[in-house]
Amino acid sequence: MSSRQSLSLADAADLSREPIDVTAVLDHLIREADAAAATSIGFPGAVDLDYGEVMTRLGNRLWNNIGDPADLGGVAHTRVLERAVIAWVADTLAMPPNDRWGYVTTGGTEGNLSALHTAHHRHPTARIYYSTAAHYSIPKIVHMLGARGVVVNADADGEMDYAHLAAQVSRRRRWPAIVVATAGTTLTEAVDDTTAIRAVLDEHQVTGHLHVDAALSGIPLALDGRLRLDDDSGISSIAISGHKFLGLPTPCGVVLIRDHARHTVSHIAYTATLDTTITGSRCGLAAALLWHAIATHGHEGHRWRATQARRLAAYTVDQLNAAGWPAWRHPHAFTVVLPTPPEQVRKKWLLATDGATSHLICMPGVTYGQVDAFVADLSAAAAPRLIPRPRARRDGLSTPSRPL
Ligand SMILES: Cc1ncc(COP(=O)(O)O)c(C=O)c1O
Repeated sequence: MSSRQSLSLADAADLSREPIDVTAVLDHLIREADAAAATSIGFPGAVDLDYGEVMTRLGNRLWNNIGDPADLGGVAHTRVLERAVIAWVADTLAMPPNDRWGYVTTGGTEGNLSALHTAHHRHPTARIYYSTAAHYSIPKIVHMLGARGVVVNADADGEMDYAHLAAQVSRRRRWPAIVVATAGTTLTEAVDDTTAIRAVLDEHQVTGHLHVDAALSGIPLALDGRLRLDDDSGISSIAISGHKFLGLPTPCGVVLIRDHARHTVSHIAYTATLDTTITGSRCGLAAALLWHAIATHGHEGHRWRATQARRLAAYTVDQLNAAGWPAWRHPHAFTVVLPTPPEQVRKKWLLATDGATSHLICMPGVTYGQVDAFVADLSAAAAPRLIPRPRARRDGLSTPSRPL
């Protein structure tokens, strides 16, 4: 090992030093990422799909989908693939073909921003309702838009409290409502009931926009037919991350908005594009990677991935409960929630933690071996928390034993 390789990554990457060993820095990054991968079960990025072909063939050029996905201009772009991705996701969500629009974003956050910006533009006096379990991007976006936010309670499992929503809406019924439902909350993967939300808005005769932040669960729930943006749903928009369930090697996402819920936009002369998107230049590589994931696995392949991951999550709950840890999950979820383990276990396994509660996420690509090793570490590090958590919504899936 050279002396440069023995430097810390920060020292080796310090651009004020000379000479800089670029190869050593890249090697260092890869080594660190490889070392973390074996115990990385806390964040919702699938690791089972292979994007090598796309990265090798397209990764060394600029693919810029500047402007609207329907635009034709520009030099090298992948808008034709982007349009195919948008159509596939919209079809999977049962969006009416004549009332849909969308684009490939930088991630779930931009999708939320695009949708809420659109909704706020149409309803400038609307109050934006979101639950305490909503992602932190939502209050940030409310602030960016200069809008008025209203916080709604969530229950202990992370689902919106509809009685509290009704109370909040009732006090503000003279203003339109933009409601953000979450399909897969960050901590427990709870799914808000959009039918119950619509019923609250209808009961109070409040108009507005219902947005679904489905960063993690949008695609798996749509594949199950459990999340639909058809006419009956009353949902106007949805944001999905591309690096979560589809495990892309770059952050990205998809936003879809019902066409009738949009506002008019300006045409930009020098780019010859419509200014419909939040960012101007947009990553055409991300659209190509999304297209590849869909083209190579299709509905059946992705449904199978979701099923396998949920089986592993069910197995994880069983193993943790058997070891005396009151873990639980929502029936559709990849996320397994448990009391926060001792620090050395939490840090080694990169668990996401919020006070007394932590979670691990059985994304596609996480293995039974990793779960077993995690449970063994936990058992070795701490006495069991013997009081099982009573659950109204126990896992509906069969609980398989570990495959050989
Ligand atoms: C519910 C929810 N919404 C939005 C986001 C933000 O997505 P992104 O990181 O792709 O911007 C996340 C990320 O974890 C999330 O869990």
